[in-house]
Amino acid sequence: MDVRRRSVLAAGAAGAAVAIGGAGTASAAALGAQHDHRDPDSLRELAGKTGLRIGTATSPQALTIPARAAIVAGQFSLVTPGNEMKWQVVEPTQGVFDWSGADQLVAFAKANDQLIRGHTLVWHNQLPTWLTTGVGDGTISDSQLRDLLHQHITTEVSRFRGKIWHWDVCNEFLTDSNPSMIDPNRFWAAHLGEGVIADAFRWAHEADPGALLFYNDYNIGGEDGSNAKADAAFTLVRGLLDQGAPVHGVGIQGHLDTQFGWSPQRLQQDIERYASLGLKVAITEADVRTFVNNATDQVPTSSLELFAQPYEFSEMLKAALAVPECVSFTVWGFTDADSWVPGVFTGEGYATPYDVNLNPKPAYFAMQSDLRLAAFGAPKRAHTRTPHP
Ligand code: XIL
Repeated sequence: MDVRRRSVLAAGAAGAAVAIGGAGTASAAALGAQHDHRDPDSLRELAGKTGLRIGTATSPQALTIPARAAIVAGQFSLVTPGNEMKWQVVEPTQGVFDWSGADQLVAFAKANDQLIRGHTLVWHNQLPTWLTTGVGDGTISDSQLRDLLHQHITTEVSRFRGKIWHWDVCNEFLTDSNPSMIDPNRFWAAHLGEGVIADAFRWAHEADPGALLFYNDYNIGGEDGSNAKADAAFTLVRGLLDQGAPVHGVGIQGHLDTQFGWSPQRLQQDIERYASLGLKVAITEADVRTFVNNATDQVPTSSLELFAQPYEFSEMLKAALAVPECVSFTVWGFTDADSWVPGVFTGEGYATPYDVNLNPKPAYFAMQSDLRLAAFGAPKRAHTRTPHP
């Protein structure tokens, strides 16, 4: 990889996005310029030299703890609200909005020269109870549901217009089966049909023409041995582009588990395949979970897993760095202390780059060294094959 060429390309892409978006962060800082007050060995400073944004999911609660806020500000150049932009949180009662959490994160990001990934507009989970109850008991018809979704997207995207770099517009529409397809039984497709996906992208684009709009899903980047779900994601976004829907990128969540097979080569090929459609790619929710002693201490139960966890983080990051169209790499929480993993995957944890006491783990140092090599030019192997006479 020619690192200098890559930097110019990627920095240009980031700059264009900011300029189109009119985001308040359109400064030299937003384009990865040097900050004297920042640690030059931080993930964000090293990543800035490569043109890749390095991000974390976080929450207003985490940012009230100074040590955590310092890590978010010092190490990352991109922030995703883990929950604060989901419909359940922003409109807990119909017509009554609570933007407080989202606003705090947006203000924090602005103060720290960070861009924001908005997450997520159309998902079957974390919907407000008034909505799911109304649909369940028939007081909200499908045509009213469609209007409510249109209104939700317009309200939320307009409210943050110019402040969001990427929106995860549609999240997790595909089945885990082989072949994979749009799941006809999940909430949105079940009620509004598959066409809701293209509509959602159009509505989001109307509300903020400068934001880059993503389709986001898990198991669509090297995770599944059959690659069936990545194939389905590729077919889905290609179909959306063919219809003229304003899709600009694919978000590969990147929730890995060391007990399952995973191929970094396949991930890179998947990234390249999405990019071949003219799309940007983002790794949006990277974490690598493994079995641990307990949810409090999160010490891996096997020394092999202790090796596999940072290895998979590093391989994911290297695949992202290898493809210029991959514009960001976000970890789904930076510390095991507030990772979603122990609460959802029984017996598992240790999924992030920092331990429960906020100490950087081997995964952090692996990522740091990958970024350093990418930033300053990795030594390349010479062409060693003996030429035929
Ligand atoms: C998770 C959050 O991290 C949890 O705090 C919440 O309880 C459930 O959702 N895929 C996604 C994310 O797209 O929004 C999910 O986040 C994790 C899986």
